[in-house]
Amino acid sequence: IRRIEDAEVANRRVLVRVDFNVPMREGQVADDTRLKAALPTIAFLRSKGAKVILAAHFDRPKGKRVPEMSLRPVVAPLSELLSAEVGFAGDCVGETAERAAAALKTGEVLLLENTRFHAGEEENDPEFARQLAALADVYVNDAFSAAHRAHASTEGVARHLPAYAGKAMEREIDHLTAALENPNRPLLAIVGGAKVSTKIDLLKNLVSKVDRLFVGGAMANTFLAARGFDVGNSLHEADLLPTAREILDIAGQSRCEILLPVDAVVASEFKPHAGRRVAQVDDIGADEMILDCGPDTVDRLADAISAARTLVWNGPLGAFETPPFDTATVEAATYAAARVREHGLVAVAGGGDTVAALNHAGVAEDFTFVSTAGGAFLEWLEGKTLPGVAVLRESAA
Ligand code: 3PG
Repeated sequence: IRRIEDAEVANRRVLVRVDFNVPMREGQVADDTRLKAALPTIAFLRSKGAKVILAAHFDRPKGKRVPEMSLRPVVAPLSELLSAEVGFAGDCVGETAERAAAALKTGEVLLLENTRFHAGEEENDPEFARQLAALADVYVNDAFSAAHRAHASTEGVARHLPAYAGKAMEREIDHLTAALENPNRPLLAIVGGAKVSTKIDLLKNLVSKVDRLFVGGAMANTFLAARGFDVGNSLHEADLLPTAREILDIAGQSRCEILLPVDAVVASEFKPHAGRRVAQVDDIGADEMILDCGPDTVDRLADAISAARTLVWNGPLGAFETPPFDTATVEAATYAAARVREHGLVAVAGGGDTVAALNHAGVAEDFTFVSTAGGAFLEWLEGKTLPGVAVLRESAA
């Protein structure tokens, strides 16, 4: 993959694919993590005298111009973060975009309207990709979190321009490669969340790569049931018991040790501060539900974290949005963060709820790397080739 340091950008127009698919509330950016992630690349390009054109999608307008899904609300917070005025083009291709791109001066930044207002984006229509490419001389993809989509602005356009990885993209690839493809062992994975069904491929891939896999969250209930425990009224997927057994078998064959909860915090209803008790997993009542891992489980997980040199974490260990069922997630995350600080553990986390859970625990900053990606992080853990990354490799080769 070619890095932007190696690109000729002075006085040239550089089309940068960023991921500004940010949480919005009442038409305002509610979390600017992804805007901040794009700053190093934008600042670098400006410092080299490039004319920067930012392309991004927002939400899922399905090829139509949906006013509530405009990227315009990003302009003000981005200008503030850059300490420079960011221009806005009301369309990402065609005359409006071309005129705005042509008027750019060295060091200026232009944001294009939502690429998904055009059906050609998600269809990866070659003609639409060509129109995007016509705006610039160089293409940079800095949106790892959208790289699992083979869309015109993430894939097709890279076939028309010299293509480079931006700094955030490079960091994501470097950290995820170091954690999963080329790790210091023992390598421990912690996977939580509600459903096995959304993570079958991920679990199958991980058990073939990691030394130990801890399964938490409601998905652990399905594994406990597959091992013959009665999980009472707990959320679990009865139809996935054969799949869970298959994953346990693959783990056995590849010498991956699976760690499941040995005790749990159970309640008879799912409510904040509901009456609850700690139960061993072979002692769960028919009307009880598992809402968090128990203290013995957290101790064992801490031992596994201590023994690990690399940790990959995806998904919460309990119903962490509803205290006190956040206890196991917070304690394990806090423990992992301390191992990073004091013992050089390499800890990488990502995927949807994970970042929220680590932020809730107040330790996201302490992790070695927290991915800004949701779906793309999961597909990486599944061992899939991300089209937006693959095309950068092809282009470099
Ligand atoms: C994300 O938010 O994970 C990316 O921006 C991809 O969005 P999408 O799932 O709508 O393609």
